[in-house]
Amino acid sequence: MEAVLKEKKVVIGITGGIAAYKAAELVSSLMKHGARAKVIMTKNATEFISPLTLETLSGNPVYYDMFSRTSPWEIDHISLAKWADVLAVVPATANIIGKVCHGIADDLLTTTIMATQAQVIFAPAMNTNMYKNPIVQENIEALKKKGYIFVSPAEGRLACGDVGEGKLAAIEDILRAITDYFVRKQDLKGIRVLVTAGPTREYLDPVRFISNPSSGKMGFAIAAACASRGAEVELVTGPVRLSPPEGVNMHPVETALEMYERVMKLYPSCHIVFKSAAVSDYRPQAYHEQKIKKDSDRLVLTLVKNPDILKELGRRKKDQILVGFAAETHNVLENAMKKIREKNLDFILANDVTQSGAGFMGDTNKGDLITRVGEIIEIPLLGKNEFAHRMIDEVLKRSPHLAIRKNC
Ligand code: PMT
Repeated sequence: MEAVLKEKKVVIGITGGIAAYKAAELVSSLMKHGARAKVIMTKNATEFISPLTLETLSGNPVYYDMFSRTSPWEIDHISLAKWADVLAVVPATANIIGKVCHGIADDLLTTTIMATQAQVIFAPAMNTNMYKNPIVQENIEALKKKGYIFVSPAEGRLACGDVGEGKLAAIEDILRAITDYFVRKQDLKGIRVLVTAGPTREYLDPVRFISNPSSGKMGFAIAAACASRGAEVELVTGPVRLSPPEGVNMHPVETALEMYERVMKLYPSCHIVFKSAAVSDYRPQAYHEQKIKKDSDRLVLTLVKNPDILKELGRRKKDQILVGFAAETHNVLENAMKKIREKNLDFILANDVTQSGAGFMGDTNKGDLITRVGEIIEIPLLGKNEFAHRMIDEVLKRSPHLAIRKNC
């Protein structure tokens, strides 16, 4: 990261949200990695954090007044717009997103964003209801379509006491998005990746099903990471509440049988498969066309086994790289290693889902990536985006034949 960010000119725009103080950590990290930083604050942001802190960390004056010129011969919003290699708005409120989306330029930050030709990256942070408000979501989608990059907020307890999506993404994830932009790491260019994500639903009747708590976040993070590295990505996902990652072909499915069909169709043309979906091992033997009535005191449910999609991929494997996942509660490594052999995998990510911060639903993960020859690579607790990149890095390091396939 250090080499990539060295001497890069980053303008950080800070807007008025409680997460404004976290921008200080980002500026500090950028400086540690050799970047140069200049900070623009909105008037509201100065209520949350002192410009002096940012001035000290960035080693530059902080810009917040449209009409006070730092140099008498320069117009700040134009000189900052030209100076920036990248402009990151951290945190980005609903207000700034709405203004930029609708071309409003009424302060130093918005005029600079309008005037710059540099890539603009937004890291939104706000109350979860605000974030989910369809107006905000439409603005985000519209800006994404115009090429603005978004680092999605995390889920958790917000400063207002509400719990949900809206927390500023981890600083390491924002730093990664900035670095990715510079690297434009295209180490997966020419590679087709198949990712599965989320749970499956196995219906008993039209309104009831068997499922599991997978949110799809891990699989979506892998798909987004592969796409940002130049891969052509097919994402087969069970029902989740996530927006499709930029540049990914999404295939929504519900049941294990539907996932099986779709995956088998896509598989022959793919070079790598990340099988992170939590597929139901069983489905009800009978499906009731109408809602089951509670007429009797006991209801016995007979389940039948679903096909093991990954095992079938292993059986049909030619020269694809197969990365399986193992969500385990005990004998984690032993069970994961057994799955590598049984399913003819190249790698498996052993996820001890009893550990805090690992596995289902949350924004972080940690686990051991195990190779076919028994090498164990520990991936520490990281945001799921960063976790995905680390996993891809490790898989690529050990898959030299992919480079050959790329050139075919
Ligand atoms: O979605 P999140 O909330 O972000 O959570 C991420 C996760 C915990 C779901 C993910 O990291 C994970 O561990 N996924 C695998 C979960 C799982 O089903 O593990 P398993 O041990 O039951 O299955 C082993 C492997 O076989 C998996 O790659 C699974 O996709 C595959 N499988 C399992 C059963 C089946 N019928 N078909 C399959 O392909």
